[in-house]
Amino acid sequence: MISSDRRDGTLPSAPSRRDGSSDAGGVTILRETAPGKLNLTLDVLGSRPDGYHALEMVMISVSLYDKLTLELGTGEPWAVTCDRPDIPEGPDNLCWRAAKAYFDAAGTDPGGLRIRVEKHIPAQAGMAGGSSDAAAVLRALNGHYGRFSDEALREIGLTVGSDVPYCLFGGVALARGRGEELTRLPDLPGELHFVLVKPAFSVSTPELFREIDRAGVTARPDTAGMIDAIQRKDRNAIGAKLQNAFEPLVAALYPMMEKLRQTLLAHGAIGARLTGTGSVVYGLFCSKFRAFSALLEAEELCPEVYLAEALPAPRTDGECKMHNA
Ligand code: C5P
Repeated sequence: MISSDRRDGTLPSAPSRRDGSSDAGGVTILRETAPGKLNLTLDVLGSRPDGYHALEMVMISVSLYDKLTLELGTGEPWAVTCDRPDIPEGPDNLCWRAAKAYFDAAGTDPGGLRIRVEKHIPAQAGMAGGSSDAAAVLRALNGHYGRFSDEALREIGLTVGSDVPYCLFGGVALARGRGEELTRLPDLPGELHFVLVKPAFSVSTPELFREIDRAGVTARPDTAGMIDAIQRKDRNAIGAKLQNAFEPLVAALYPMMEKLRQTLLAHGAIGARLTGTGSVVYGLFCSKFRAFSALLEAEELCPEVYLAEALPAPRTDGECKMHNA
């Protein structure tokens, strides 16, 4: 997924890294893509002494990507910019924090850094857009400098956010702990289409965690059943096992959520759920035709609608210590 080129248009004189960039003088440009994620399941097992919650989630990466450009060695103060005005720029952006965490851990300085983010993943959506951008920065930097194993990179990622290790791992996975204990699951069966609908409201993640501490979990996923359905490549069982512990809380706050879910189901979705803490609601379809008709109908309710597919597990460099299911 990583590519690099030279801003001055010259060919790199001495390619020395696995991403093909050069160590010669000037600015090195790295490009990287950052896919969004969906929760097939999300369970909250309890609160932890460190203030986080113990989670259990089946996650997938989907074909909706942010695009990042990193310029190393600009000789200027660091800058992070984004094409969406509602996303923070500068040190508050997770990309900045990821780059800082990387260079702090590596004990090096790039001599100036500029990151540009082109957003396509909806923001404040439960799709880990910010975390995936941060993961893309770590992936791009490590593709260039090659300092860390996959496992060490995920540890750096966890200092930036709970979803960053998963975003580095990618594909279909079981995530436990804060979200950093990752187990690879088989790719989803073919011919599955996701219709994603982003309502106008956005939900505060910390507030929802506080609310679930108070209200308790009333919609507990059958995580083992979902894993079994994935292993058997049983599309209908996957659709039936979609579940999210936050959904009843979000539905109570925003009735539009349930309306969207029912619209997707009425158009042939084999399951429809909230992802993460929302506010995106997705429907899972076995037929692209049905997915399109649902998409057109959902567009009448919310203008921000997307069609996406599940991505296969990314290739790893063999250094990654992952648990295989
Ligand atoms: O780790 P991250 O900064 O992405 O988490 C955002 C917020 O989500 C945390 O401040 C916390 O309120 C909540 N959270 C949690 N338990 C987790 C992950 C996130 O309570 N495992």
